[in-house]
Amino acid sequence: MFVCVCNALKERDVREAARVVGKSCPKAAYAQLGCKVKCGQCLPFAREVLMDGRGA
Ligand code: FES
Repeated sequence: MFVCVCNALKERDVREAARVVGKSCPKAAYAQLGCKVKCGQCLPFAREVLMDGRGA
């Protein structure tokens, strides 16, 4: 499932980035992936993914 449509980031991508940068900040995870937050619609879900590590 996509977390961020603007950057085409999937849950797995965000979680892998969080292993490097920590779980507190979706923006840092996106930066680790070479992306930036654009519309911001994804941030609540991105935080959820970072915090509970759910999904595939
Ligand atoms: S959906 Fe992530 S920045 Fe737009």
